[in-house]
Amino acid sequence: MKLDEFLRLNAPDDLGALTSAIAKSSVDVWDSIPFKTGLLTETNPSGETQKAIDVFSNDLFVEALTSTGHAAEVASEEMEEPVESRGGVSVAMDPLDGSSNVETNNPLGSIFGFYSHRLPASGRSLVGALYVTYGTMLTLTFSFGKGVHRFVALREGDGMSFQLLGVNLKLPDKPEVYGFGGSRKEWVHGVARFWESLDGRGLRNRYCGTFIGDYNQVLAKGGIFSYPALVKKPRGKLRVLYECAPMAFINEQAGGYASDGSTNVLDLAPSGLAETSPLYIGSASLVREVEGSLASS
Ligand code: AHG
Ligand code: MN
Ligand code: MN
Repeated sequence: MKLDEFLRLNAPDDLGALTSAIAKSSVDVWDSIPFKTGLLTETNPSGETQKAIDVFSNDLFVEALTSTGHAAEVASEEMEEPVESRGGVSVAMDPLDGSSNVETNNPLGSIFGFYSHRLPASGRSLVGALYVTYGTMLTLTFSFGKGVHRFVALREGDGMSFQLLGVNLKLPDKPEVYGFGGSRKEWVHGVARFWESLDGRGLRNRYCGTFIGDYNQVLAKGGIFSYPALVKKPRGKLRVLYECAPMAFINEQAGGYASDGSTNVLDLAPSGLAETSPLYIGSASLVREVEGSLASS
């Protein structure tokens, strides 16, 4: 089944239009990656130096999303303020996740949260979320609250079409992989103790340095990804609106659980657009365990 047919049958009109617009633009982002690897002089609201691909993908997605007439606003980790538009859905995005890994060709991604409330908003106002992978395969993985579904881009004539790859994706019962960001000496105490226990239980350390690449394999194999609380950065690095909450929405739809170390990520109520949170996401049993390890440390 092709994407537009699936969306016509299964998506609310506004989310279907936004998803279709993202799909089309993701092909242009994918094609542009080899040519947009340079560093720029500007920094984003998180104080990170921007790469050409960050700004290129941001501008492309803002135009595509606002042109649908379904986005009330588009907020992005690459912009100080949202772009206002005239629709009903507030879109929060990380237009290019993992951009510091462009030169090494690690699996990059884009992340979108579809909120029913004006931003900043709690993850409980998410009505959908989507992530793109640009590595190995160009795929869209998304949920509108009724399961997690995946499409893959395939050549069709001189363009690309998106074909169904899987419906109702679920985390496997037996967790197999784990990946923790930041450097081990920076982790708060309860994290290191939990991390060391995983190796002894037969789980395999699979970490590639991009959130989307690291989470995508957790969804396929079961396990846990974390960008944890650091001693010097107790609120971690990943942004609640643009990265943590949309991925927590998808992960929960796939049967998992995501925490900031003590609270469900979807219950966080960020007061600022660029607010960050520690993130522990994946198989519920493991995330609950690391919550316990943090509580007792
Ligand atoms: P972004 O490129 O959107 O800023 O995200 C990068 C994030 C995430 O993809 C990854 O998990 C994390 O940064 C890695 O951080 P370090 O390079 O600091 O380990
Ligand atoms: Mn980014
Ligand atoms: Mn990111």
